[in-house]
Amino acid sequence: MKKHIIANIKMNQTPEESKFYLASIISKASALVDKRLTICLPYTSLNLGKMMLSGTDITLGAQNIAEEEEGLLTGEISGRMLKGCGVKRVIVGHSERRSRFKESGQAINKKIKIALKNGLQVILCVGESLVEKNTLKTVASLTAQIDECLKGLYENELENIIIAYEPVWAIGSGKTASVKDIEYGVKAIRKAVENNFSEKAGKEIEVVYGGSLNGKNITSIYNAEGLNGVLVGGACLDAQAFLRMISKC
Ligand code: PGA
Repeated sequence: MKKHIIANIKMNQTPEESKFYLASIISKASALVDKRLTICLPYTSLNLGKMMLSGTDITLGAQNIAEEEEGLLTGEISGRMLKGCGVKRVIVGHSERRSRFKESGQAINKKIKIALKNGLQVILCVGESLVEKNTLKTVASLTAQIDECLKGLYENELENIIIAYEPVWAIGSGKTASVKDIEYGVKAIRKAVENNFSEKAGKEIEVVYGGSLNGKNITSIYNAEGLNGVLVGGACLDAQAFLRMISKC
């Protein structure tokens, strides 16, 4: 199975900027043949992404989804709206949303169910804080997040879920987790999935890593044991630098 490269544009790019960005990436599509690239655009660029990415092998992603189907939720975006914009995958539970917007595990669980119901694949972010890491609570933290976020799901739904292991202390901080840290976290995630579903589920769930990836650390991390790819934030924003980074994978 090809590995994932997921680009999280976060709150960057006007539609015009996304147009140039996507054009640069699409023109080098040959660099991507052995990878599965997903670009998670801001909402305002999704329609443009739908047009520009149709007919390519690049998947259109979004960065969040409301926990309800529709209605009185000013400023939120529903699964149906995302689907209508051509979105195939959506990031859920990013640590910036958990910390800045106080998203709980329960809310994330609802978002996952709504996304799946609307035929969207989910990129579920989990990760321990620095305090948890320093007090040796990484496994407990990851396990609790997986238990809460995947509660009530059927095992066959896991094929539409990618788990992104994103240690909170490594996101946007310039501090990357070591390959050893990553393999340790990924193992804990697979074990938690196994405990909730089955041994097969723990083995087969796709897990990617995200957190301060760059041109220097990408090769060793991309090849870490048990990983199905990477999620890139800051380092994906410059299309040419990002393409150079991908070429090292
Ligand atoms: P970063 O972001 O690569 O800038 O650390 C990753 C993420 O937030 O998903």
